[in-house]
Amino acid sequence: MKINDALMLRASVKSFKPEREVAPDVMEAIYDAARWAPSPENVQHVRFIIIKDEQIKSWIAQMSREIREHGRTRVPAPLLNERLKMVPPEIRPLYMEKMTNSEAAGDIIETCDTLVLAIGNGNWYDTPYLVAPPEFGGIVCATAIQNMWTSAVGNNIGMSLVTQPFASERNAMLIKDRLGIPHDWELFAGLCFGVAEKRNRLYPTARAPKIPLERLVFDGYWGRQYKRMAFKDDLDEKDYMPPDYNFSMDVFDSIYLRRSIRTFKEKHDVYEQDGGGKIPEWKIEALLEAARNTASMFNAQNFRFVLLREPRDHYIKEKLGHAALEMSKYVFGMVPWNQVADRLWYIPKHTYPGIMEYMADGSLMYYPTRANAIIIPCVQPAYNGEPIGRMGGTNLASIFVSMAIQNMWNLCPVLGLGIGFNALTSSDIRRRQLWMEELGIPGSWMMPACLGIGIPATPRNASPPRFPVSSLFFNEYWGKPYKRIAFRD
Ligand SMILES: Cc1cc2nc3c(=O)[nH]c(=O)nc-3n(C[C@H](O)[C@H](O)[C@H](O)COP(=O)(O)O)c2cc1C
Repeated sequence: MKINDALMLRASVKSFKPEREVAPDVMEAIYDAARWAPSPENVQHVRFIIIKDEQIKSWIAQMSREIREHGRTRVPAPLLNERLKMVPPEIRPLYMEKMTNSEAAGDIIETCDTLVLAIGNGNWYDTPYLVAPPEFGGIVCATAIQNMWTSAVGNNIGMSLVTQPFASERNAMLIKDRLGIPHDWELFAGLCFGVAEKRNRLYPTARAPKIPLERLVFDGYWGRQYKRMAFKDDLDEKDYMPPDYNFSMDVFDSIYLRRSIRTFKEKHDVYEQDGGGKIPEWKIEALLEAARNTASMFNAQNFRFVLLREPRDHYIKEKLGHAALEMSKYVFGMVPWNQVADRLWYIPKHTYPGIMEYMADGSLMYYPTRANAIIIPCVQPAYNGEPIGRMGGTNLASIFVSMAIQNMWNLCPVLGLGIGFNALTSSDIRRRQLWMEELGIPGSWMMPACLGIGIPATPRNASPPRFPVSSLFFNEYWGKPYKRIAFRD
């Protein structure tokens, strides 16, 4: 399946054919997709437990039913109804019935072929002199989850993400104890995989309706509506998608070829050849559409994006790049050589000196300034999935925005674009506040990073090495490696 189709067709599958198994090699391809997700300094602090054991699945399903029974089903109808803004009025009664049916909350877990628990860790440090923000745990989990989801769609396998069973801290602890999960790791989500009974039974449309781009994306400043191409009158020919363009890249190739890109073509480099590094308008819109079709609790879409473009927003882009450069100087430049070198195990030895020099003088991180566009992802941690019960918070919220980021990132290879995820622009909290003030982002929202986007200056190899599937995926119990099909007899 082509990558763009996979991103556009993604939906939460709410019911599976219980008698239909997913072929083990297909599941393995989906697990493999998770490996290629990005993580800060490639630390890959995410683990998954594959659960096929019916007893464990039923036990977790029961937790989900209880949470729903004690939460949603007791909430007065008008309160729930108001949350369903995005659901067409004519199907709201059916939707409400399903939502408040506590049996159904468990059925999805019980009838899926494979339940995969996604476990992250907010306490891992990616830089020697900086405490990584705890939301990185959720972000890294989410990018891997989204890769699996895209891969599942590409393989015609249904997937759904559930957080309900873990909404009670006590449940999460019980699961950790029974499955041997260390208590400093966090259970973020359960991923249910199976053969979809019907792709999306609840909505009359192919997928859940999403808010329009005009509300999801702000142009240069919070609240200033992004104008879609159809409504712009200052475009030139190059801004339109060529008539013969067909997104001809396979899902796995896109996931595998996605890279962190930190050098972009710029106006002075390539002025004559290809538009001075300018990203055509249709590609920006394609990226934003990919972000738009992301899952979120109650389809709340508790994320927004502020789009900065050259040359209009050059001034703030320059400041963002400069902040990242300064931060890089401190967190990498002030640390003894050996300490940083050890962290870069995944980089070929002969390139150490060069890369370390660029990290120490900060120039490697200056790329937001050079990028032709910047997308600032924003997330609202206070959105709550459930009227009653604990479901929200920074970590959970950052999962959804990061799945949207990963969707854009995975679309880049086919568009000939690259994204660099720059956390250093805003890892200093005061600086983060200053950007937010400058861009009008309300203080109750959060800006986890800045994405520099442009045409890569040079072709890049595939990603740096990743841990094997057997290190990231455990079989039924924490630490028990998943055995790849090639090694089974
Ligand atoms: C949460 C998170 C934070 C990151 N922070 C930065 C950053 O501040 N600067 C940067 O250049 N890359 C950053 N990256 C990108 C990683 O360095 C990159 O994903 C990793 O080295 C693997 O390389 P790849 O993305 O090309 O596969 C970050 C990635 C994630 C997921």
